[in-house]
Amino acid sequence: MNISPARLASFEILNRIEVEKAFSSALLPLYEEKLSEKDRGLCHELTLGTLRNQILIDKIIEQYISKKLDREVKISLRMGIYQIRFLDRIPAYSAINESVNLVQKAKKTSAKGLVNAVLRKISQKNVDLNFVDKVEEISIQTSHPRWLIEKWIADFGVEETAKLAKANNETPSLDYRLTAKSINNFENQSLFELAKKGEIYFQDKGSQLVAETIDLQPNEKFLDVCCAPASKLSMIATQNQNQNFFGGDFNFKRLKIAQNSCKKQGLKNVQLVQYDAEKALPFQENCFDKILVDAPCSGTGTIRHNPEIRYFLEQNDFAELSCKQLKILSNASKLLKKGGSLIYSTCSLETEENEQVIASFLEENNDFEIISPKINQKFLLKENFARTFPQRDEMDGFFIAVLKKV
Ligand SMILES: C[S@@+](CC[C@H](N)C(=O)[O-])C[C@H]1O[C@@H](n2cnc3c(N)ncnc32)[C@H](O)[C@@H]1O
Repeated sequence: MNISPARLASFEILNRIEVEKAFSSALLPLYEEKLSEKDRGLCHELTLGTLRNQILIDKIIEQYISKKLDREVKISLRMGIYQIRFLDRIPAYSAINESVNLVQKAKKTSAKGLVNAVLRKISQKNVDLNFVDKVEEISIQTSHPRWLIEKWIADFGVEETAKLAKANNETPSLDYRLTAKSINNFENQSLFELAKKGEIYFQDKGSQLVAETIDLQPNEKFLDVCCAPASKLSMIATQNQNQNFFGGDFNFKRLKIAQNSCKKQGLKNVQLVQYDAEKALPFQENCFDKILVDAPCSGTGTIRHNPEIRYFLEQNDFAELSCKQLKILSNASKLLKKGGSLIYSTCSLETEENEQVIASFLEENNDFEIISPKINQKFLLKENFARTFPQRDEMDGFFIAVLKKV
């Protein structure tokens, strides 16, 4: 039975994403480090491409099969269709044979004939899809759940939502920044080699923008309340290597990653602590000049990097998240000195997690006022918040609010 290592890895990753609700960005590096460079590229493409087109692919499958399919059969069909419909360098027979072999490897032998027949038909004829309305068309063509498209249309309008959903399926640029270890001579080294050595750090431009707005002055005391894996904290610490920095997080595993990352980047000025920021924080009140609350959120601004987020989310998640965000923000605010700034950011596009959290916070805390973040004018909203959008700014979608304690 012939299955390429790239397809087998991708098949296992896609199954784990569905069963464990795991993230592709966490699984891909684990599998890819064991693959050759060529297989790594194919595994990456197959996994992310299949995820980015999942609803569209399932709609194509529905034209041929009406019964419920076992997960492994469905995933091997999805992978086969992605290769046939979206990749032009893979011969159809190879996509079909390998999908059939994946089904056999998963011990779903009775489905081999079905997978073979459906993929053959799809390779011979284009399927015409019909849509009941514009919302369904955007939802299926861009593979986003209908409820999410409806929600975005209510917030951003039809045209902008169509652009956003399309941009979410594009491969983002590989953004990176220098580290404390960076040397100036990068010649003849690949970005991956440099990242492995800690001389550069891969970080989306949107995330870098949040860190840039912190604008720390000499001797100002700074805390990053939800810091792991320390992308923003390590960037701020790199720019201010004579100062000490504090960061904390709930998740021990993520804190370990943050610690290793700071070390790899050559930073000695970052102290990390584990806590639950929904409860009282282990610092004195009124002791920090600047505090970043980069809150846990739905991540709808990062779908380009994490395509599976759209399938994990449910409509009522936002209310739960906004309660958590408000609690963390309120707790953090107590640690801030008078005159200090509380920076609230998320990588969510949803008003419930952004504007509404700030409005609720200000209702309970009249000693805070909104001030404008130090950021390029083009990102500023009229309420003095800042927002970035994947379809407009070619970076992840972030929200930033700066609250001054008066
Ligand atoms: C958006 S991520 C932070 C990303 C980080 N600031 C960076 O730039 O690398 C949100 C973080 O909040 C943490 N978190 C979730 N609930 C928390 C809680 N109750 N207390 C503290 N941290 C929490 C998560 O573990 C996660 O690491």
